[in-house]
Amino acid sequence: MSDKKPVLLSGIQPSGHLCIGNYLGALKNWEALQESYDSIFLVVDMHALTIKQNPAELRQRCLSYVAQYIACGLDPEKSHIFVQSHVIGHAELAWVLSCLTPLGELQRMTQFKDKVAKLGFKVNEREDGQEGDEVKFTHSGARAQASVNSGLLSYPVLMAADILLYNADLVPVGEDQRQHLELCRDLAQRFNQVYSETFKIPSAFVSKTGARVMSLAEPTRKMSKSDKNQNATIFIHDEPDRIRKKIASAVTDSGNEIKANPDKPGVTNLLSILAALTGTEIPEIEEKFSDRGYGEFKEVVTEATIEALRPVREKYLSLTEDKSYLLSALKDGTSVAQKRAYRILSKVYRKIGFVERPR
Ligand code: TRP
Repeated sequence: MSDKKPVLLSGIQPSGHLCIGNYLGALKNWEALQESYDSIFLVVDMHALTIKQNPAELRQRCLSYVAQYIACGLDPEKSHIFVQSHVIGHAELAWVLSCLTPLGELQRMTQFKDKVAKLGFKVNEREDGQEGDEVKFTHSGARAQASVNSGLLSYPVLMAADILLYNADLVPVGEDQRQHLELCRDLAQRFNQVYSETFKIPSAFVSKTGARVMSLAEPTRKMSKSDKNQNATIFIHDEPDRIRKKIASAVTDSGNEIKANPDKPGVTNLLSILAALTGTEIPEIEEKFSDRGYGEFKEVVTEATIEALRPVREKYLSLTEDKSYLLSALKDGTSVAQKRAYRILSKVYRKIGFVERPR
């Protein structure tokens, strides 16, 4: 038992296509981490349902995401890769956990409030105009509540179930998911307290090395794989010419100094992309470009991006031709995951007092 590797688990929603933000911020780290952990990587299609999906596209995208994961370096021989909805237990455990989750905790989640606000509704305001604790729909009340599906609210509980279903020790996530992981830890503790020791308490793993890549068009916002503006995001399968065009049109800042600085978000972003791609420190790059201009700098960033993504793109393209390989990788991942999930779910069901299934 003691020589067992700790369990690492993470996942990404299959929306849009993976971008260099995902690659540099997450997948490149996961690739390294899979060497020393018992790793589980999910394509979280159930989470994707919180946003309206086109069924045919969703179906196609899930398999494509598996190809993208592998193209970015995840290895089905070393890690368990699968699609969330293929394993029975995620929704079941989420239900149990949701009965331990006070509504207010979900309504206070920053990401929920942001998502609701993005749908165009004013939230989190009390009658007196002060910040309140819970989401209140202050205008077009009924319509607003009708168009915010409750999956959006319970999203973090499903995420907690993903993690606890495999007793994960470590969960690599971006800064924006920290609060969700906190909830997961609270729920694990709450369950253990109420029903006796069952779950491990997982830790967030926010990498120091991973870059936080910002939008090329609006560098104060995080680069998003589902951005409407296609020039804002570099996808991992972008052709060299596209990458050239996108970086050429990337927003830089006034002045011509190549220095990382809060009032130069465009240049800072390109600097951190280059640093992450080449494994160099930003000051070293600044030094190198101290007497050179934006044009030359952008060219170097462009070439580094093209070279780094070339093998990823080639692997992705060849994997999309090899559906049988993808399916067999998924089959392996799913069968290991399902065994583990059943084990934990049965334990949970027993502890909460569900009667044993007749055999
Ligand atoms: N909520 C995560 C995100 O949007 C995705 C996710 C779902 C996840 N389940 C997870 C991440 C479990 C880590 C572990 O990024």
